[in-house]
Amino acid sequence: MTAPAGVIVTMDGPAGTGKSSVAWKLAQRLGLEVLDTGAMYRAAAVVALDEGVQADDGVALAARIAEEGLAFDWSFRPPRLLLGGRDLTERIRDADVNVAVSVVARQPALRAAMVEAQRVIGRAHPRLVTEGRDQGSVVFPDAVVRFYLDAHPEVRARRRVDQMRAQGRPADYEAVLRAIQQRDHLDETRVDGPLVCAPGAQRIDTSGLTLDQVVLELESRTRIVVPADFLTPSRAVQTA
Ligand code: DC
Repeated sequence: MTAPAGVIVTMDGPAGTGKSSVAWKLAQRLGLEVLDTGAMYRAAAVVALDEGVQADDGVALAARIAEEGLAFDWSFRPPRLLLGGRDLTERIRDADVNVAVSVVARQPALRAAMVEAQRVIGRAHPRLVTEGRDQGSVVFPDAVVRFYLDAHPEVRARRRVDQMRAQGRPADYEAVLRAIQQRDHLDETRVDGPLVCAPGAQRIDTSGLTLDQVVLELESRTRIVVPADFLTPSRAVQTA
C-alpha cells in the first residue's frame, strides 16, 4: 500500500447524527486532530450579529473575516476559535447564532472563502478528522476516507430532545422534529455545497447504533485503508 501524503478523514451529515462527538472520539483513537468547520460558519454568523454586517451579504462577511483574521488556536484541545483578538469559542454556541448561521451558510461568496480557508488548514494540519456538510464532497474530495453519517429524522429529534432536557431546557419533540426536517431541506437544496453523500463516500446509518459503536465502525473502516504506521495503534474500547 502506498503511503498517503496526509491522513484526512472527512465526516459529513446532517445535525443530530453525533458527528462532532464521533469526530473527537475517532480522532483520539487514531491520533488525528479535529477540524470543526461548522464553528467557522458560526463565527461568520457572529460577525453578522455583533458587527452589523448583513447575514445575507456573503461578500461583505468574507471581506470582514479576511480583514480581522479567523484562526483556530491549536494549542488547545479542542482548539479555540479566534476572530482578530476576540475569542469566539463560547459565543458561537449561543441561540441567536444557531438561527443566523443557517442564512450565513447559504452565501456562495462566504462558502468559497471558507472552503479555501479549510484547505489551508488541511495543508497545515494534514492529520485531520474534518467534520461538516461539504468536507468530502467539495473541500477534500481526495481525502483518504470519506464518511457520511445519517440517521432517521425521528431518531435525531429524539436525541436532541434528550440532550436539551439533560441540560434542563424545555423541549417539545414535535417542534424539534419539524425544525430538523426544515433544516435538512434547506441544507440539501442549497445551490452551493449542498448536504449530499458524495459519490465514493461511505454512508453509515447511525439510527440503531450507540456513539461507541459508530466510532468503532469508522475506526475499523479507516484502518482498512490507512497503513498502520500512520495511525495510533489500535487499543481496547473504553465505553463511557
Ligand atoms: O455543524 P454545526 O451545527 O455547527 O453547523 C453550523 C451551520 O453551518 C449549519 O447551518 C450547517 C452549516 N455548515 C455548512 O453549511 N457547511 C459546513 N461545512 C459546516 C457547517
